[in-house]
Amino acid sequence: MVPGYTPAGVDKYFVEHLKQTGEKALNKWTHYFPVYSRELARFKNRPVSFLEIGVFRGGSLPMWKGYFAEGSTLVFIDIDPACKEHEIDGTHIRIGNQADPAFLASLIEEFGPFDVILDDGSHISEHQIASYEYLWPAIKNEGVYLVEDTHTSYWPGFGGGYRNEASFMEYAKRLVDAMHSWYTDEDETFPFDGRAKELCAVRFYDSVVVLEKFLQESIPVCITASDGKVIANQNWHKVRGRRSVFAGKDGTPIED
Ligand SMILES: C[S@@+](CC[C@H](N)C(=O)[O-])C[C@H]1O[C@@H](n2cnc3c(N)ncnc32)[C@H](O)[C@@H]1O
Repeated sequence: MVPGYTPAGVDKYFVEHLKQTGEKALNKWTHYFPVYSRELARFKNRPVSFLEIGVFRGGSLPMWKGYFAEGSTLVFIDIDPACKEHEIDGTHIRIGNQADPAFLASLIEEFGPFDVILDDGSHISEHQIASYEYLWPAIKNEGVYLVEDTHTSYWPGFGGGYRNEASFMEYAKRLVDAMHSWYTDEDETFPFDGRAKELCAVRFYDSVVVLEKFLQESIPVCITASDGKVIANQNWHKVRGRRSVFAGKDGTPIED
């Protein structure tokens, strides 16, 4: 890690790895390491299928190879054909455009589905959205999709700009609404969005957005647990025109 910068919660693996890098340069912001440590811990030392968009000088290949178990499927893509030379044993580099559906389809066909996808490619919002939309179905249940350098959503040159609807950041914010659309009480303006059946978390970090998949066909279940018994119900869903259950107790008026 950068001398003097040792944030809590960084897996020692990354700290040690950075002391032992070879000639292939790695390019990451320091504050991504706590994110990797949190988000990827459950995949560490396990055989996973992993896809990273963006190879550049090849430094992330050995890092991920050492982080995941032997036997993992480790796939890296880049638009620059020169990146192919960074392929190392146990990894696969494919050359193509992250926004090209035919190329992405060929990756899914050859290597998918994936436990983890990490987009560290062009950082252009349009590309980030295109890759996510195409690759999300190829994420396994309980897998994660990470998009890095999302600060570019605030840069007009990358298709962003503050509150630019076309930016990846605004797209990700809309996914928060989609995820909660089970609970809609305003069908006209906020209809149910089928993406709620797959998306269980949208986590915003400084410059990284993490999307987690959990397949859930029917509406979320609420439980009441008492006397060692657990009773499940989905009745909350049938209540329309909801109002606070605390009405009258928390200062909210009891009005019909
Ligand atoms: C930030 S670098 C990747 C750094 C690398 N992941 C690392 O950790 O060291 C971004 C890479 O994305 C590639 N790239 C840019 N546009 C792309 C696109 N449309 N499709 C695929 N790769 C792209 C660039 O050629 C560059 O090598």
